[in-house]
Amino acid sequence: MDSTRDATLDSLVASGQRPLGLKIGGSTELTLLKADGSEHPVHPLWLRERCRDAASMDVKTQQRLQDPSDFDLDLRLLMVSQPSAGVYRVRFSDGHEATFAAADLLAEAALAPNSHDCPAPRLWDGTLADLPRVQWRADPAANELLAWLEAFLTLGFVIFEGVPTTPGSVLEVGALFGFTRATNFGPLFNVRSTPDATDLAYTAVSLDPHTDNPYRTPVPGIQLLHCLVNETHGGLSTLADGFAVAQALREQHRAAFDILASTPVRFKYIDADTELTASVPPIELDVTGALKAIHFSPRLDFVPLFAPERLDAYFRARRLFDQRLRAPDFQIRFLLGPGDLVMFDNCRLLHGRTSFDPAEGPRHLQGCYIDIDGPRSLYRVLRRRRGGAADVRRSA
Ligand code: OGA
Ligand code: ZN
Repeated sequence: MDSTRDATLDSLVASGQRPLGLKIGGSTELTLLKADGSEHPVHPLWLRERCRDAASMDVKTQQRLQDPSDFDLDLRLLMVSQPSAGVYRVRFSDGHEATFAAADLLAEAALAPNSHDCPAPRLWDGTLADLPRVQWRADPAANELLAWLEAFLTLGFVIFEGVPTTPGSVLEVGALFGFTRATNFGPLFNVRSTPDATDLAYTAVSLDPHTDNPYRTPVPGIQLLHCLVNETHGGLSTLADGFAVAQALREQHRAAFDILASTPVRFKYIDADTELTASVPPIELDVTGALKAIHFSPRLDFVPLFAPERLDAYFRARRLFDQRLRAPDFQIRFLLGPGDLVMFDNCRLLHGRTSFDPAEGPRHLQGCYIDIDGPRSLYRVLRRRRGGAADVRRSA
């Protein structure tokens, strides 16, 4: 995480330190205790917004009944007491009284500003040996599904084996994890070498590491590619962890990282009925400076005409980034055989393929996209049903 931005964010939790506990400070203050011994008063409005009683919140939907902008900006705590262990009772200066579970407040306070409350990404490089390969089942048990989701959320991909090679199966797999995102290519797309291809993916040429559809807003979050037939020797699938490559650049070539994170690149797709463009930086950061998404497609990127010095720096930085993406240090390769399906995070991972000779035999994949937030939602729901949130790592 970028320390400069982090400091300006001024978050109690940005340091990554989990709060240890709460205590009453002089009966009109609730105070958060941190591991380094520091104490931080909890803002009265932050607390007021978290009242969970029936007057403040619709209990069923957990949605607030009042507009919190109407709360008194000078709100104070008139009285804080601890009626029993782990429970705090608070009287606010607007007359409202509420009870809080310390565990709830501590869990909320521990959430980092960019937290998804899900397993954190575990960055990987070309030495990744144990690929997350699992046997597909249309009706997995909850624990099995949780394990698949955990692999997907940490590594950014999972390979299912034994997916029926019936056309359209990819949509069924996708539907288990999220809502399908149809595009101008349809709800699913066929990847095979065809004459009159509308995209280079539909030829036999190799595809360098790329993210799909950077010209769309928003980009399709997750991609699934399902192999129905592969009778060629080529056409190996490639994957690289764009977050790992960006992180390496950040550590080794800071100026290159900065220019890739701050240059809006125009991506463009055009065919007879469609014309899409989007301007995004190849490395997209969130407001805390953490990696948010990679947008990279050497077939489709067009940088605006900046001053020569800036362009010079940009082209050098792009080369550094691309060289790493293509190098075995960061890239893994594997063959998708019939029935194999790879599902990957299109905001984090870059994918590609080696070339193949269509004269050897057919190669036919079917692909689809689903929204980025499906697997995270499913993960939280399964964890809630299992009844144990505490043992799951939170993303920083
Ligand atoms: C694609 C793509 C890879 C492959 O269709 O977007 O990258 O293995 N295909 O053909
Ligand atoms: Zn692609």
